[in-house]
Amino acid sequence: MITVSIVVAMSRNFGIGRENQLPWHLPEDLKNFKAITMGKPIIMGRKTFDSIGRPLPGRTNIVVTRNRGWSSNTVLVARGFEEALVLAKNACHQNDCNELMVIGGEMIYRAALPVVSRIYLTEVKGDIAADTFFPSFDRSQWVEQNRRRGKIQADFSYDFVILDKRC
Ligand SMILES: NC(=O)c1ccc[n+]([C@@H]2O[C@H](COP(=O)([O-])OP(=O)(O)OC[C@H]3O[C@@H](n4cnc5c(N)ncnc54)[C@H](OP(=O)(O)O)[C@@H]3O)[C@@H](O)[C@H]2O)c1
Repeated sequence: MITVSIVVAMSRNFGIGRENQLPWHLPEDLKNFKAITMGKPIIMGRKTFDSIGRPLPGRTNIVVTRNRGWSSNTVLVARGFEEALVLAKNACHQNDCNELMVIGGEMIYRAALPVVSRIYLTEVKGDIAADTFFPSFDRSQWVEQNRRRGKIQADFSYDFVILDKRC
């Protein structure tokens, strides 16, 4: 059984990005992201891939784009989210892993949310100016499995939360 999971850091007003960057610099969150995703396939939108600027090592990188001219030697390319899921599941079977990770951005979270059963959420405690947002979702349909407080940084505090979809 392969779990489909989302990894996201979002503010209280659901902000996730600004001008194709993260709206914050939270080194502890980046470290957490690396630990959670290492060894697993990661699915991302083409804009998020551009924003990161390189494939993330130790993970099968799958980039979703409608642009048939877009190709890469270093990542797998999917023409839609369903195709990305197939590629990620194949990578899981080959690498003996049981979880695939959807890492954003907004468009890809929207496509993924209906089929996801776990969310690794960095809950940034504050409203932040953003131009991309996590889709609204019914929190009552999710069970909080774990909550860990992050270190206070600048104007933000944040928690690392794991949410599992109710069966
Ligand atoms: N806070 C977080 O945890 C987090 C995580 C990731 C990203 N972000 C932020 O999110 C922002 C980017 O989000 P975004 O929504 O603008 O972009 P995105 O989801 O990363 O990428 C959008 C692109 O993906 C492709 N795409 C989307 N849906 C598709 C579909 N159904 N079929 C085929 N291709 C599809 C299209 O690529 P083409 O235009 O090439 O066709 C589209 O332009 C950035 O600011 C980034 O920093 C935040």
